[in-house]
Amino acid sequence: MSQDGVNKGRRRFLMAATGTLGAVGGAGVAWPLLSSWQPSERAKAVGAPVDVDISSLDPGEMISVEWRGKPIFVVRRTSEMLEALRSDDLRGRLSDPDSDNLDQQPEYARNELRSREEELLVIEGACTHLGCAPQYRPEVEPQTFDANWLGGFFCACHGSRFDMAGRVYRGVPAPSNLVVPPHMRDGNMLTIGEDGEIA
Ligand code: FES
Repeated sequence: MSQDGVNKGRRRFLMAATGTLGAVGGAGVAWPLLSSWQPSERAKAVGAPVDVDISSLDPGEMISVEWRGKPIFVVRRTSEMLEALRSDDLRGRLSDPDSDNLDQQPEYARNELRSREEELLVIEGACTHLGCAPQYRPEVEPQTFDANWLGGFFCACHGSRFDMAGRVYRGVPAPSNLVVPPHMRDGNMLTIGEDGEIA
């Protein structure tokens, strides 16, 4: 039994990796590659929790997983990303830095980093404005659309920006932070759609 209380008796639908992971974005690298894990047809049909092996997810990389017809972004954040998330400068530019909107995450993700574990971010890849898929922008450096950008997610549909914890910036169309779905981790296995005994 893991610290999250994973129920080993419950049947899981294990997804297989089908692509390569994107590299950490550096100077001049605008769009990291994304890989997708596709759940089985049966898992899709029943909306069951899905398990993802994150052992090959390196710091700075993101994968996209489908759960209940929605893309779920999983990012293993770097120490540089975590440091940026804790900056006072960033905090002052966010609409809901403390996740006061309780509809957007489980209680265990209601914190500065919006996660159960510092390094691992799990969020729905759907903009809270009109549902477009935000783009992953891992670069902690100024971007053309925002000279003070510290990295995160950018929705090109109407220009909403989110930080590397899915927290929405002030003054953009999106009204709230990106949603954190229920999830739990047991070693290298991440389960999305179920959060164990402490949920
Ligand atoms: S759908 Fe994302 S900004 Fe409009």
